[in-house]
Amino acid sequence: MPRPLTILGLESSCDDTGAAILRGTGAGAEILSNVVASQTDLHAAFGGVVPEIAARAHAEKLDLVTEEALAKAGVSLADIDAIAVTAGPGLIGGVLSGVMAAKGLAMGLGKPLIGVNHLAGHALTPVLTDAMRFPYLMLLVSGGHCQFLRVDAPDRFHRLGGTIDDAPGEAFDKVARLLGLPQPGGPSVEAEAAKGDPARFDLPRPLMDRPGCDLSFSGLKTAVLRVRDTLVAEQGGLTEGDRADLCASFQGAVAAVLAGKSARALADQSGLTGFAVAGGVAANKTLRARLEQVAEAAGLPFVAPPLALCTDNAAMIAFAGLMAFEAGHRDDMHLSARPRWPLDTAAAPMIGSGKKGAKA
Ligand code: KG4
Ligand code: ZN
Repeated sequence: MPRPLTILGLESSCDDTGAAILRGTGAGAEILSNVVASQTDLHAAFGGVVPEIAARAHAEKLDLVTEEALAKAGVSLADIDAIAVTAGPGLIGGVLSGVMAAKGLAMGLGKPLIGVNHLAGHALTPVLTDAMRFPYLMLLVSGGHCQFLRVDAPDRFHRLGGTIDDAPGEAFDKVARLLGLPQPGGPSVEAEAAKGDPARFDLPRPLMDRPGCDLSFSGLKTAVLRVRDTLVAEQGGLTEGDRADLCASFQGAVAAVLAGKSARALADQSGLTGFAVAGGVAANKTLRARLEQVAEAAGLPFVAPPLALCTDNAAMIAFAGLMAFEAGHRDDMHLSARPRWPLDTAAAPMIGSGKKGAKA
């Protein structure tokens, strides 16, 4: 049995600056603190994440969130056994800010440094939250990523498929923009959809007619644009009812496609212990319900970690770092920040996935 370790995790790959303290082993760890400073307000006026603004904000906030995480956990830097940091994939300025901060701490304190793949952080979260056993199927759905991963071990991921264009969160954000709803689009589209009729507009189910579990969301967003323009041309604008129905129909189409492809991914695999979902879009209640049904039909448990651990956070980085540390992994001052870093290096690269950079 490995001895319990205290790990400081740092996350800065997109628009959330995070620091967390975790104590335990790969078999079970406790989150002592998990601090996230969101940059949503800084980017609000631009309709998307501005990389330069993000990088500067991370550089300003990393010290502060680290101090807060230590204080909340009631530990000092001297108590830390290792520092885990997101080393990619992500917006390079932000990743660099985190890697530089972690190197400074590791060097100054003489503690081990571990570079963590951000996607591994998401993909391993069910082990932290629900003691999920390998191998399991993970659907990662966020603003920058969408992929099915078979997670065989903390460092073994097999990519079964993913989006060939937009990530679902990106599609939610664009649809919100098309319909004049506030950002981030996911929660505002979901709130509108709750008042609407998902059967009113017959939107496409992209790639459902093709084998495999690749997905596409860009056509769906264009279909929403067409319906909106047709309604505007016919009636001079959208009623509140039209907007709610369009949101409900769009959300229904996204959920149907993700559920359909999940069923396919589960049917193609054997020996799985369960089906897990992570990423910001996993907050969507309609989607969660559909995925739960799919898992149930396949006779497998469904795991959706609590929202704060589905979206970007440093606790997942600390946990992935803890597992890597136990496996003997150590980085040094040569650790580099990587804008792209696929989890499954054997899988063919996907074209154009994620307009906000290679992040999840
Ligand atoms: O994982 P995340 O917090 O950040 C990264 O993309 O890394 O995901 C953010 C995305 C945004 O596109 C947001 O619109 C979407 O998740 N999202 C949702 C919901 N809440 C957040 N999408 C659909 N339904 C939601 N309730
Ligand atoms: Zn992420």
